[in-house]
Amino acid sequence: MQLPFFQHYLNIWSKFSFLTLQTCSFTFFSSPLTHSALICAGKMVIKCKAAVAWEPNKPLVIEEIEVAPPQANEIRIKMVATGVCHTDLYHLFEGMHEGGFPVVLGHEGAGIVESVGPGVTEYQTGDTVIPLFLSQCKECRFCKNPKSNHCEKGWIADRQGEMSPAESRFTCKGKKLLQFVGTSTFSEYTVVNQMAVAKIDPAAPLDKVCLLGCGICTGFGAAVNVAQVEPGSTCAVFGLGAVGLAAVMGCHFAGAKKIIAVDINPEKFEMAKVFGATDFVNPKDRSKPISEVIAEMTNGGVDFSLECVGSVGVMRSALESCVKGWGVSVIVGWTDLCDFAARPIQLIAGRTWKGALFGGFKSRDGVPQMVQSYMDKKVKLDEFITHNMPLAQVNDAIELMKNGKWYIYILYVYIIEDLQTELYKDKH
Ligand SMILES: NC(=O)c1ccc[n+]([C@@H]2O[C@H](COP(=O)([O-])OP(=O)(O)OC[C@H]3O[C@@H](n4cnc5c(N)ncnc54)[C@H](O)[C@@H]3O)[C@@H](O)[C@H]2O)c1
Ligand SMILES: [Zn+2]
Ligand SMILES: [Zn+2]
Repeated sequence: MQLPFFQHYLNIWSKFSFLTLQTCSFTFFSSPLTHSALICAGKMVIKCKAAVAWEPNKPLVIEEIEVAPPQANEIRIKMVATGVCHTDLYHLFEGMHEGGFPVVLGHEGAGIVESVGPGVTEYQTGDTVIPLFLSQCKECRFCKNPKSNHCEKGWIADRQGEMSPAESRFTCKGKKLLQFVGTSTFSEYTVVNQMAVAKIDPAAPLDKVCLLGCGICTGFGAAVNVAQVEPGSTCAVFGLGAVGLAAVMGCHFAGAKKIIAVDINPEKFEMAKVFGATDFVNPKDRSKPISEVIAEMTNGGVDFSLECVGSVGVMRSALESCVKGWGVSVIVGWTDLCDFAARPIQLIAGRTWKGALFGGFKSRDGVPQMVQSYMDKKVKLDEFITHNMPLAQVNDAIELMKNGKWYIYILYVYIIEDLQTELYKDKH
């Protein structure tokens, strides 16, 4: 008899838990899990593998770490898959002082709830979830205001300077490990506050929808939610990494008639076409400023532009590429190292300059909706994935991404290969 998918997850979960849970006297021979076993599971320290960044600019080290049980309002998650995002690299190589280490990086993952702490009522063992770097407490003034997704709780309120909450459930060799942006998906298990967890369709393939934890929602939402691209409009997307490609997909989804893809690496154009780009500009081939090139292509500038590079020079260029009167330019690329500049006349002339975090999505509401859009084939995810690797190869993934190999759009790490194989068997 075919098991329901949820039951199947639980069965696999119990099998692997037997291998990894350390201090419990219960054994998980039977499926489904017994109630007592589940209660016990939530009280134990779990020993598991994680990729630890002990210090900046050094390779990650696969270590056995201890993951404490979830405390009040927390959820312990068995990670199944995680992407590697540029923000992880930014933390490792550029952004952070030594106070941000040792840390377990990763913030773009998907997994299964192993256990929940006191006070958690909306989630239970076996739920399929995506941990979120941006919380949605649903109570603060930002959560209550439909105009914003900047929840003021979660790790951001706690310790923004070090990109990690002061509290952590991870230890290794007697030392506390920080949990990067409150998530730490480069670990077989993690513990996350319930206000930073999205419950998703149990039928969703976790090795694909994990990408919705960051870059894809960021780019897609920047076009759809923040720029609010209109049917029949003209758009320009600067930078065609995963975020920019997702922005192209968002413009296409919103019905734009012309989508100009701009990148200094022309090898990105083929993939941009897959997501809906209609025109292609390589700044290196042009002698004029790109804003002039785009103005010529669009009778004075595009209706919407999106900067997905993280360069203040490109941000200015994207603004100047918008048509006067009503053009909207959205900053998506991340940098906190430089100031930007523009002539005030650009805004006086009627352009709007905006920025967005996580594509403007209220995270716990938006991510399950995006999962549904993927399941309904309205949003592409598979096309972003170029590499599948086990956690043990995380440094290879980082090297490839760091070196900017042209074909890398998203590096993808299977945390638990066997579990993933089981999931595939069920579905194919
Ligand atoms: N705002 C948010 O919430 C948020 C979330 C995630 C990521 N980000 C940021 O989004 C940005 C893009 O992320 P990604 O993962 O797609 O990065 P990526 O490095 O994969 O892609 C950047 C692309 O920009 C291109 N590029 C570089 N210089 C250019 C120039 N002068 N003109 C045109 N194209 C140029 C590169 O060739 C590359 O294709 C990063 O800055 C990242 O930190 C922001
Ligand atoms: Zn990210
Ligand atoms: Zn909030």
